[in-house]
Amino acid sequence: MRSTGLVRSRRFLLGFRLSAALVALLPLAWLVWRMAAGLLGPDPGQELTQALGLAALQLLIATLCMTPMQRWTGWVGWVRIRRMLGLCAFFYACLHVLSFLQFMVGWQDLWATFTTRPYIIAGSVAFLVLIPLSLTSTRGMMRRLGPNWKRLHRLAYLSVVAAWVHFVWQARSDIGEMLVYGLLIAVLLWFRWRWNGWRGLLPLTASNSRANSDRVG
Ligand code: HEM
Repeated sequence: MRSTGLVRSRRFLLGFRLSAALVALLPLAWLVWRMAAGLLGPDPGQELTQALGLAALQLLIATLCMTPMQRWTGWVGWVRIRRMLGLCAFFYACLHVLSFLQFMVGWQDLWATFTTRPYIIAGSVAFLVLIPLSLTSTRGMMRRLGPNWKRLHRLAYLSVVAAWVHFVWQARSDIGEMLVYGLLIAVLLWFRWRWNGWRGLLPLTASNSRANSDRVG
């Protein structure tokens, strides 16, 4: 499918980016509203932590969908919102961790907090990996790192897999929701493998195909 004139216009692209930003901020607005209205249930801290974690995972998956969408539709708009979605995922992940510390466990003995329970270790891996990705997401860093930027940004796959493991590990019920996210992630990984082979999935290694360009997505 090729994009038409309207879809390629600057105004449409701007509208698309703005709409995507609004959608990405909706979970936060919804949470703030529920918090202000006292609608977060009997354990607001846990509800907040869960909702922020889920938003982070959803946005991370959405970020990784952008390159396949561009390849299927031929429309560049998808990859134009990729960085913004990735940064929003990181933003929600930061709030998720802060909420966990502030409302669930407290700030004492942080080392033990992050290294004792296996599901928290998986979450910490997902979070730590997002830090260099966010710090290097600017155009300047992209230029400075050259081909290494794409190699580094394949770490996004490690992050999403670790986040999913973390999600599944801590769950007490509703296996269906986890399976849906797991299936989506598996499909994304499969596309990457088809387009770039194993090297397209492994972070920090060179890709074997220049034609398939080392896309992060
Ligand atoms: C240091 C890093 C992290 C810590 C300490 C942490 C902590 C937690 C905790 C305690 C819960 C369970 C809350 C409850 O009791 O119900 C949780 C759930 C969750 N976390 Fe994390 N997390 C971390 C990183 C991440 C990251 C990076 C993501 C996603 C990108 C993520 C996604 C989720 C999801 C999807 C849930 C389940 C929400 C639900 O039940 O609907 N977490 N996390």
